[in-house]
Amino acid sequence: MRQLLVVGNWKMNGSRASINSLLDDLLSAPAVAGTEVAVCPTYVHLPQVLELCASSAIAVGAQDCSHMQSGAYTGEVAAVMLSEMGCRWVILGHSERRQYHAESDALVAAKVAVAVEAGLQPIVCVGETREQREAGEAQSVVSAQLQGALKGQVNLDSLVVAYEPVWAIGTGLTATPQQAQDMHECIRGCLEGIEGIDAQATRLLYGGSVKADNAAQLFAQPDIDGALVGGAALKAADFKSIIAAA
Ligand code: PGA
Repeated sequence: MRQLLVVGNWKMNGSRASINSLLDDLLSAPAVAGTEVAVCPTYVHLPQVLELCASSAIAVGAQDCSHMQSGAYTGEVAAVMLSEMGCRWVILGHSERRQYHAESDALVAAKVAVAVEAGLQPIVCVGETREQREAGEAQSVVSAQLQGALKGQVNLDSLVVAYEPVWAIGTGLTATPQQAQDMHECIRGCLEGIEGIDAQATRLLYGGSVKADNAAQLFAQPDIDGALVGGAALKAADFKSIIAAA
């Protein structure tokens, strides 16, 4: 039985004041039994969020990490620094990193390796563009991303994969529950073929305009084990409703 996981990806949003009020609201809600929750703020907000969530059921993650262990990499943050601070999760290969920072599957693979070695649990994001879906390439694109990021890795027991169709991120367009389920089934099949991964135990999250009113239908699909939530994670009421739907 896979435990549901709901992760808030705050992206480049938030101030000390807005985060205090968002967490004040989230932390006052009782934990939902059987559902794991995490939030991923910017690097600079991590100390504040870690402190506020310290004795709560909400875990904390980062939105990225360097592919290198340490050294002369100006502007980068090492996975081991994040785990030492108390982060449990790290989002890797988000489509915005692939799009605006030219991250390749090989770079994502290097990040997965250092993250796992540092004791972080990676959330590896995959997803096709609208053009790729229209060309009938969605499944082959996603399979290639998975192979590129995960093949040859060791110790992927804590792996989580997030399927985020690029055309659904921040657009208000959501994959239908059936489209999402079909892709999640394909992802699980692809993971079966990668050595060292227990595909049945690996949690697969859906991401892309998840909201309070579509979350329950998505979570009802057999291969959808939770959500990676962007915009709706910035509003306490919306995020709480998504968690409740799980
Ligand atoms: P969205 O973002 O929920 O705002 O579409 C999801 C994500 O990019 O992780």
